[in-house]
Amino acid sequence: MAEIQLKNVSKHFKDVVVFEGLTLTIRDGEFFTFLGPSGCGKSTLLNLIAGLEEITDGEILFDGQLVNDLPPRQRDVAMVFQSYALYPHMTVFDNIAFPLKMKKYDKQTIKREVEAVASILGLKGLLNRKPRELSGGQRQRVAFGRAIVRRPRVFLMDEPLSNLDARLRVEMRAELKKLHKELKTTIVYVTHDQAEAMGLSDRIAIINEGMIQQCATPVEIYTRPKNIFVATFVGSPAMNLIEGELLSEAPLRVKAGDLVLSISTEQPPRTDRVIIGIRPEDVEVSTSGETCYAATVELLEPEGARIWIDLIVGNIKIKGYSSIGTSISPGQRVYLNIPVERVHVFDPVTKQRL
Ligand SMILES: Nc1ncnc2c1ncn2[C@@H]1O[C@H](COP(=O)(O)OP(=O)(O)OP(=O)(O)O)[C@@H](O)[C@H]1O
Ligand SMILES: [Mg+2]
Repeated sequence: MAEIQLKNVSKHFKDVVVFEGLTLTIRDGEFFTFLGPSGCGKSTLLNLIAGLEEITDGEILFDGQLVNDLPPRQRDVAMVFQSYALYPHMTVFDNIAFPLKMKKYDKQTIKREVEAVASILGLKGLLNRKPRELSGGQRQRVAFGRAIVRRPRVFLMDEPLSNLDARLRVEMRAELKKLHKELKTTIVYVTHDQAEAMGLSDRIAIINEGMIQQCATPVEIYTRPKNIFVATFVGSPAMNLIEGELLSEAPLRVKAGDLVLSISTEQPPRTDRVIIGIRPEDVEVSTSGETCYAATVELLEPEGARIWIDLIVGNIKIKGYSSIGTSISPGQRVYLNIPVERVHVFDPVTKQRL
């Protein structure tokens, strides 16, 4: 088990600056995820922690011990990648056993350990098969097995589920979460899939443009996004952003198109304009309710239990929802219910939450 500290870590590839002065503590036993768009540096960060890449500046510590100069093997981390990288000519048993054989464990110990891991991962009946005789999900489980059997201090996982189809990915997500509960080992996980990050993690660091935009629990990130990037990166469909104009400061009243909202913020706006953020799942559309905002339906997008609805309210467009089965059609006049306590307010210049 290990706590991982990054202190003022910078990483440059020649003239490409990936990170500059990154500071972060990953707690012992935590399921910690780096989430961000492609190219933001997630894999690079993982490689720095693993020791596969050298840091340009700063310090990395495991349980308070500086590991900057330790090669990957001595850091005692196990990595799982997107591509399973199993040995095709070896059986499942031998693939999982491989790290123990390298460490020259005796045969009996190896057998016991491999069987224990196979049992955790539901691979017991497959130990004599070769990778080509397995499904994608089973192969990825073997790759997890090979990492687990080493009982490392830290697991580093770089998009381990992204080669699987959508359904299997969701299944494996649940298994991975169970696995973490059992093992209680620190997991540092990388993904660009926000649903995966939200579902798996104790905490998430959202990365963009070489910086941590927010580091918090999934609930905190969803309910109190720190800035516009986080607000729109997390949540699907993306949060509605509307320019608003201040009508009064105390109490704070904002006019955004035809919407007039009384909202409370932690900090007072610095200008007479703000950006209002409303999640589509917080805009309830109904066919009656004269006391609410009136809107016109533009487009309907059914998805599972909900219909996402593009709406026109005066001169603004906003996305809302209704439950499936509600009879609504384009052009229809409808009414919106928006709980003001769920409305987010951002500074238009700094893009930070107010
Ligand atoms: N060896 C390298 N030499 C030069 N630049 C690199 C090298 N490795 C990565 N980069 C650059 O560093 C940045 C971060 O890359 P990285 O692979 O860490 O991104 P990522 O967040 O993992 O992206 P993805 O989601 O696509 O996997 C990118 O701009 C990339 O081009
Ligand atoms: Mg990557």
